[in-house]
Amino acid sequence: MTSPNTSKVLILLGPPGAGKGTQSRLLEQKFGLVQLSTGDLLRRSIESGSETGKAVESIMAEGRLVGDDIVISILRDRMRDSDCAGGVILDGFPRTLSQARALDQLLAETGQQISAVVSLAVDDKKMVDRISGRFTCAGCGEGYHDTFKPLEAAERCDNCGGSEFMRRADDKAETVAARLIEYREQTSPLIDYYSHMGVLANVDAMGPIEAINRSIEATISSRS
Ligand code: AP5
Repeated sequence: MTSPNTSKVLILLGPPGAGKGTQSRLLEQKFGLVQLSTGDLLRRSIESGSETGKAVESIMAEGRLVGDDIVISILRDRMRDSDCAGGVILDGFPRTLSQARALDQLLAETGQQISAVVSLAVDDKKMVDRISGRFTCAGCGEGYHDTFKPLEAAERCDNCGGSEFMRRADDKAETVAARLIEYREQTSPLIDYYSHMGVLANVDAMGPIEAINRSIEATISSRS
């Protein structure tokens, strides 16, 4: 008889700017999990000039969701990499009911189960404030904010010391509005889906990064 796979699978759910990426990176260090951001994987495919990248570039620039088939295939491939065997944090996946069902099927195949789905709640103003000041280190991907999380040393990444930074093409005001509509119409039904499954935890994501992180860690620890 094979033993069940007990590695953690955490899902962070929330609108653009809720702090999914910020919190995933903190949880990754604390729990030794691998952060899987479908947004990052898609942006990498655009940078690489692949056929997938060419197919998704304009969709992402307009703030619309990429088709389920493409995203599910990218996620499925990445989850099969050996570094994901010890557990993952899914940041930005699933985003539709069809993606959620595909994930259920994938986990059934690997013998894994969802440990918790953390739904991060922020209001629209906070979301826009956070996105409009966001930038990341081009070297290591560490995320910053002009006001809420500035660099400690001028022009140097706190994490890797790099000096090149990037702002995302889809962080313009009109695109952010489109992303929020997509979230409300396509992704928010997942809150009910995971609530019925008994794995949902709601976390108020309006406060400071560290306080939110403590709430999430307490939620995860209580479910271990
Ligand atoms: P994706 O890259 O996933 O973007 P998103 O979901 O819109 O989320 P963000 O990355 O904008 O926000 P976040 O919640 O991670 O916030 P962050 O921690 O950075 O997706 C981009 C696009 O890819 C989609 O629009 C779609 O086209 C496509 N895509 C991706 N996945 C897909 C899927 N599954 N299906 C289909 N299409 C898909 O924080 C934001 C800023 O706020 C940062 O500067 C941070 O420093 C700051 N901050 C964070 N928390 C706090 C806090 N508590 N207080 C103050 N500042 C804070």
